[in-house]
Amino acid sequence: MKKLTLLFVAFFLLTGTHLKADEGMWLPMYVKRLNFVDMQKKGLQLTPEEIYSVNHSSLKDAIVGLANSPKPSGYFCTAEIVSDEGLMFTNHHCGYDAIQKHSSLEYDYLTDGFWAMGREEELPNEGMTASVLIYMEDLTDSIIPTLSDTLSEADRKSAVREITSRIKKRASEEGKYNVIVKSFFEGNEYYMFVYEVYLDVRLVGAPPSSVGKFGGDTDNWMWPRHTGDFSIFRIYTAPDGSPAEYAAENIPLKPKHHLPVSIDGVQENDFAMIWGFPGSTERYLTSSGVQFKVDHYFPPLIDAFGVKLDVWKQHMDADPEVKIKYASKHAGIANGWKYFIGQSKGVKDLDVVGQKEAFEAELEEWIAADENRQQKYGMVLTEIDDAYIEKSDGIEPLIYASITGIGGSDIMAYAQKFMGLKEMLKQLKEEKDNKKKAKKEEQIRNTADNMLAALSADFKNYDKATDQDVFAAMTELYFKKVPVSFHPELLDKMEKKYKGDLAAYAAYVFSNSLMADSGSAKVFLKNPSLKALDKDPAFELAQGYMQKIMPAGSEYRTKGKGLDKAERIYMQAIREMQPDKAFYPDANSTMRFTYGQVMDYIPRDAVQYDYVTHLWGVMEKEAPDNDEFYVEPKLKELFETKDYGPYAAKDGSMVVCFLTNNDITGGNSGSPVINGKGELIGLAFDGNWEAMSSDIGFIPDLQRTIVVDVRYVLFIIDKYAGAGHLVDELTISQSAPQPVRTEMKTVIEVVVD
Ligand code: ARG
Repeated sequence: MKKLTLLFVAFFLLTGTHLKADEGMWLPMYVKRLNFVDMQKKGLQLTPEEIYSVNHSSLKDAIVGLANSPKPSGYFCTAEIVSDEGLMFTNHHCGYDAIQKHSSLEYDYLTDGFWAMGREEELPNEGMTASVLIYMEDLTDSIIPTLSDTLSEADRKSAVREITSRIKKRASEEGKYNVIVKSFFEGNEYYMFVYEVYLDVRLVGAPPSSVGKFGGDTDNWMWPRHTGDFSIFRIYTAPDGSPAEYAAENIPLKPKHHLPVSIDGVQENDFAMIWGFPGSTERYLTSSGVQFKVDHYFPPLIDAFGVKLDVWKQHMDADPEVKIKYASKHAGIANGWKYFIGQSKGVKDLDVVGQKEAFEAELEEWIAADENRQQKYGMVLTEIDDAYIEKSDGIEPLIYASITGIGGSDIMAYAQKFMGLKEMLKQLKEEKDNKKKAKKEEQIRNTADNMLAALSADFKNYDKATDQDVFAAMTELYFKKVPVSFHPELLDKMEKKYKGDLAAYAAYVFSNSLMADSGSAKVFLKNPSLKALDKDPAFELAQGYMQKIMPAGSEYRTKGKGLDKAERIYMQAIREMQPDKAFYPDANSTMRFTYGQVMDYIPRDAVQYDYVTHLWGVMEKEAPDNDEFYVEPKLKELFETKDYGPYAAKDGSMVVCFLTNNDITGGNSGSPVINGKGELIGLAFDGNWEAMSSDIGFIPDLQRTIVVDVRYVLFIIDKYAGAGHLVDELTISQSAPQPVRTEMKTVIEVVVD
C-alpha cells in the first residue's frame, strides 16, 4: 500500500483528506497472515477458516468464475452461489451475451427480460462454464530456485512449463480437477489453482434491459447510477454431482457453500468485502509504461472503435432486428471504448505519469545509495524506458491495421476462415498422386462440412447492410491511418478505381463476394472451388491484409525484448526497497478479495456524492423516447404505490445502488459484495469515472466500486417479475423479517406508513 500512497502524496495535498479507498486485491490463502486483523478492525465477524479453508466448506466455495471455455482461466465475470440448488447471481451485463443469444424478434429477452417459472424453462448456454476453486498452492519454491539467471526468457518459460506440467498432472487427480499455474509479481512467484469446472450453466432469469442496463452507455462507468445490473443462472451437474455437459438428466448443483442474503441494507462505513476474479491490472507499471499506453496504445483504439460504434448505432436504431443482433457486440466495444477514453483522461487529470516519476526518482536514490543495489538494479529503469521507446515505434499502424483491416468487419473476419480451405484446394490442384489427391479431397470435404455446420452460428449476429457500411468506414480508416507500405496492392488499386469512394467499393465487394451472405457461402461450401475463392473480392482483400500484417507483426514482436526480464527485476527492487509493505499481486484472473467500507466521495470541489441511489432517481432520469432511460410502466406503478415489500429501506424508500471503497477491476463484474457476517448485500458491477486510471494507479480518494443493492435485485425478481419462487430458494438473513410473500401486504403497509 505504501508505494502507491507515496505516489499520490501530491494528490492528497490538493484534495484534502477525505476517507480513503482500500487498495489491494488479496490472495485468499493469505487472508489469515496478511489481512485478517485489519479486516476484523473494520467489521469482519467471520474467522479466517470460515472465509478460506481447504478442508472445510468456506465462503470461497460460493465464488464462481464464469468463462466461455472449460479452461479455468480468462474469467469474463464472477458469479456467486446463493442457494443449495446451485442458483447463481451475476450481473446483467455478464449474462448479456447469453441473453442475446436466446433472443429474437419473437422472444426479445433483451428488451422484455426472461424468467424461468420452473426448472424445465431454464435455458442451457453452450460453452459457458462455471469454475469453483478447490484450493490454491504456492509453487514459488519449487520453481524459482531451478531457474538460472542466464536463461533466455523463452527458455525460462519452457523450463517453468516443464516443472509445472508434472505438478499439474498430479493435482488434477486423473482429470477430476482443472489445474492452472500462474505467474505473479512479474514472474517472481508462481501459484497453482485447482478448480472444479462445471459445464452445464443455465439461464434462469434476467430483468429487461430497461432495468438491467438502465442508463446505458451514457451512465456506464459513472456514478450516480440506477442500474439493476443482475441476472440469474444455475449450475447443473451429472446425477452423481460431477461436472457434465448439458444433459436432460442433469441435476442442480449441491454446493459446499452458498451465500446467505441480508436484506438489512447498508449504512455508511459498514464493512464490505468483494470476492471474485479480477482480470488484469498493471499497478506496477513504470511512468514510461503508462506513457506508452496513453500516447500510443489507446488513441487508435478510441478512434477506430468510435467510428465503428457510430455505424452500428445508426443501423441498430433503424432496425429492431439489427438491434438485437448487434446488441452484445455493441455493448462490449462501447464499454471498452469508454474505458480507454476514461483511462486516458484519468491518467492526464491525475498526473499519474508525474506521480510515477516521483516514485522512480525515490527508487533511483535508494539504488544509488548502495553498491550492491547498483549492481543488481542500476540499469533496470533505463532498460524498461528503452524497451518502451522501442515498442512505441510502429505500434499505432499495427493496431489500426488489425482493428480496421482483418478485424474491421464481419466479412473480413469470416474471410479468414476460408484461408485453410484455400491452401488445401491449392495443394489439391498441384497434387499428382491419385491416392494423395483422394485424401486431400476428403480433407477439403471435412473442412467444408465443418464450416457448413457452423454457418448459421457464423451469420446469426450478422446484418449485410450494416456490415457493408462498417466495411466501408473501416477500409477508409485503414487507407488513411496505415502507412502505404502496409497497404495491400488491391486496396490502393480499388481506391483509385473508385476515386476514393470506398462506400462504392464496399457496395461492389458486398454484391460480389460469396462471403457476404449465408446463402452464397452455403452454395460455395457445398462445392468449394479454388477459382471461386481466388476471384472473390472479400477473400482477396483479406489475403492482402494478412500478407502485410503477418510479417509486420512478427517484426514488431522483436521490439523491446528485454522488457519482461527488466520488469521482473524492477518488481524485485521495489519490494526490496519497501520490506515492511504488504504487496498484493496484479490481477490475473485468479481469485482475490478486497475489503473496505460503504463510502461516499467528493468527485470535485464543492461536490459530494451520496453513497446510495434510490428508485426515485430512476424516475428522475426517465426519458420515454430514449431507450437508455426508458422506464417500464410496471416499475412506475410499483414506485407509485411504494409496493416494495420487505425490500424497502427503513425509511420506506427503495435503494437501487450503493458505493464501497473496494478495489476491483474488469472480471470482478458480478462479484458478491459481502457484509461482516458473510452475507450478500449487493453485486459489484462498475467503477467510477473519476478513478478510471485505477488499473494502473490506485486513487484512494476517488476510487469506488458501484454495487447494485441486493434488496433491489430481490424486489425486481419478486415484485416486478413475479418470480418469487427464486427468492424462496435463498437463505435470507435472520436479522430482518423473512420475505413471506403471502404476507407482503401487511409488510408494505408498515413500510409505507
Ligand atoms: N463498465 C462495466 C464493466 O466494465 C460494464 C457496465 C455495462 N453496462 C453498460 N451500460 N454498458 O464491467
